[in-house]
Amino acid sequence: MTSPCSDAFVFFGATGDLAYKKIFPALQAMILAGELEMPIIGIAYSGWSQQQLRDRARASIEEHATLDPAAFTRLCAQLYYLDGDYTQDAVYHELRQRLGQARRPLHYLAIPPSMFATVVQGLAKAGCADNARIVVEKPFGRNLASAQALNRTLQTVFPESAIFRIDHYLGKEAVENLLYFRFANSFLEPLWNRSYIHSVEITLAESFGIEGRGSFYEEAGALRDVVQNHLLQVVTLLAMEAPVSTDPAGMRAEKLRLLRAMRPLEPGNVVRGQFDGYRHEKGVAPDSQVETFIALRLHIDTWRWAGVPFYLRAGKCLPITTTEVRVDLNPPPLPVFDVISPAQSNFFRFRLSPEVVIAAGTRVKQAGSGMRGEGVELLARNQPGYDALPYQRLLGDALRGDGTLFTSDACVEQAWAVVQPVLDAPGPVQSYPRGSWGPPAAAAIVADTEGWHDPQPEAGAPC
Ligand code: BG6
Repeated sequence: MTSPCSDAFVFFGATGDLAYKKIFPALQAMILAGELEMPIIGIAYSGWSQQQLRDRARASIEEHATLDPAAFTRLCAQLYYLDGDYTQDAVYHELRQRLGQARRPLHYLAIPPSMFATVVQGLAKAGCADNARIVVEKPFGRNLASAQALNRTLQTVFPESAIFRIDHYLGKEAVENLLYFRFANSFLEPLWNRSYIHSVEITLAESFGIEGRGSFYEEAGALRDVVQNHLLQVVTLLAMEAPVSTDPAGMRAEKLRLLRAMRPLEPGNVVRGQFDGYRHEKGVAPDSQVETFIALRLHIDTWRWAGVPFYLRAGKCLPITTTEVRVDLNPPPLPVFDVISPAQSNFFRFRLSPEVVIAAGTRVKQAGSGMRGEGVELLARNQPGYDALPYQRLLGDALRGDGTLFTSDACVEQAWAVVQPVLDAPGPVQSYPRGSWGPPAAAAIVADTEGWHDPQPEAGAPC
């Protein structure tokens, strides 16, 4: 079923950090792709002029993308800046007037979640929510209870089919490819279960710190910032069953089934770390207990995955910036030639960023007279011509009413339910030197294997 496209794009938080880093580049890309032929209204309460917002858009695109003069001119012609206090009715009335003939606006809330309820109610009161769609940014709540409350707030005004919860990881080509690769290659299916898979490891490593986002990060920490959303989504795509249909409902049903089978985290299976110097960052408490690193063991209680540990790790100030999945297979049952340890056995490696790589770790015979082997990766480097930015992809889908790459109410709540025991009893935070792989205690998480596989710079990748 196709739904009509939205006919106006409204974004709250137009002068903010997210607009600067991601939204303006995505808007220019959407204009170039012919996907945004409608009024664009940016709203904030900063006292700015139209020109200031245009200057900001230009600076944003120059810093985070490549300015296309013709597309940028069109963007400026379509862009209107509306300044107003979100707590006052006036801004919503002015918005209704600005929307003019538009009958199906899309409202994108790139603002702190504490303002969501106020804005949603303001939109409804002024008649701006009729036939509208709403896109909300992460973090979607701080825990299970606040996510449930937020869902209730949104659903008092918008039907679930008009609510689009962003997890930008789902807009990444390489992340979508996980799902495609699994279900478009029949050779994988016989192996993709507890009989052949020994363990799954996912690392989201960043070599940079919190980049001036101290007060945001103090409210979040690694578990809320990237595990509850991005990493659990990646686990879901790796582990879910094939959907019976690829429409949003079919996909969401399978994702939810998988999330429900995830065992809530046990605090004893989690190690939290904090990089040295974090407490001296602006906006950070001198005795902060917030984690900038987390390592954990997750279990999925299904027939396919029972007994297969999923090791997850994420952190700031680590040795490299990359996100990588590694699926380790069991070694052969008996040694025919040389003894193959679990660490030497077959694996699949999916590098999700910054490069896009799929590799199969195999054993081949070393040249020479003995029957001894060595590990060799069969490698597919996927450099797609289609290089849509995740936000271009996601906002374009939301305008078209396609919710496939967005998180449903039930899925987002279930993901919070998985991490909630650690939010309730987080345990101590342990310091680690910048540039290291987190606190030494993280090794305990993988004690039943031969240790973490630290992602390395990709051979042949630009420095
Ligand atoms: C964001 C987090 O959601 O994801 C950031 O708030 C993190 O802390 C970022 O750096 C990682 O995503 P990407 O796409 O920049 O690798």
